[in-house]
Amino acid sequence: MQGEVRVTDVVPEAGSEPPPLYEARNVSKRYGNVRALIGVTFHVGCREVVGLLGDNGAGKSTLIRMMSGIVKPDSGEILADGKPVRVESRADSERLGIETIYQDIALVDPMSITRNIFMGREITNRFGFMRHKRMAELAVDVLQSAVHIAGIDHPDAEVGFLSGGQKQAVAIARAVYFKRRILLLDEPTSALSVRETERLLAYVAGLKQENVSSVLVTHNLYHAFMVCDRFVVMSHGQVVFEAAKEETTIEDLTDHVIRT
Ligand SMILES: Nc1ncnc2c1ncn2[C@@H]1O[C@H](COP(=O)(O)OP(=O)(O)OP(=O)(O)O)[C@@H](O)[C@H]1O
Ligand SMILES: [Mg+2]
Repeated sequence: MQGEVRVTDVVPEAGSEPPPLYEARNVSKRYGNVRALIGVTFHVGCREVVGLLGDNGAGKSTLIRMMSGIVKPDSGEILADGKPVRVESRADSERLGIETIYQDIALVDPMSITRNIFMGREITNRFGFMRHKRMAELAVDVLQSAVHIAGIDHPDAEVGFLSGGQKQAVAIARAVYFKRRILLLDEPTSALSVRETERLLAYVAGLKQENVSSVLVTHNLYHAFMVCDRFVVMSHGQVVFEAAKEETTIEDLTDHVIRT
């Protein structure tokens, strides 16, 4: 009968969960003799904060860089919303709504805070001219929303004169402003004070309400436990443990991180 929905029209099984926002299946990456990722399968679901844990050299940053398109896997599959995709450049990951705060902060010292936040994605008017005032206002706004750090209320200040924590705040502000679907944070709190760290972690947890999921890489299991809904522990390039928050404890996670 016309207009009737036939069973064969219904794409995957009715009632099934939506596919993850992002999924890496069986990905591997080698640097010469070093096997940084060995058959890693990892996903980020809707409205969740995933804690990516593991000792030094476990492969966490490599996985983060792969998700953000800077590192290309040697093998494996990447899917976004259940469909195979290629993520081979920053432009590719931006298109998927992935924003990254890298462990080694990538800021340009001789440029202002505002220029650093909007670098490569400047706001322009319809004639193609940059809207400096608008960008400066937004820079102040975003710096006050995620991590408010004393001394960086002036968006024209040169980044080269900022402290480590202040630079970190600018890097966070940049990712936060462009946040769309997934925020990747690789050791974001290493240069932050206790209060700034708490603000950032609360902010990350709050992003779920705006439909933004996050991946938090940290060596601080207390921070991870505070905000993450699920944990993935890596060791020597492999995923060695996975658990939802309600299935594990800080002690349990510590065991898995140090037992390598
Ligand atoms: N560009 C590179 N060239 C060569 N080897 C690399 C490169 N990047 C990472 N590696 C190696 O890959 C392995 C995984 O490194 P990765 O940076 O992903 O670890 P990590 O889990 O982020 O560690 P950390 O907690 O110390 O930041 C390490 O043995 C590292 O030396
Ligand atoms: Mg790292």
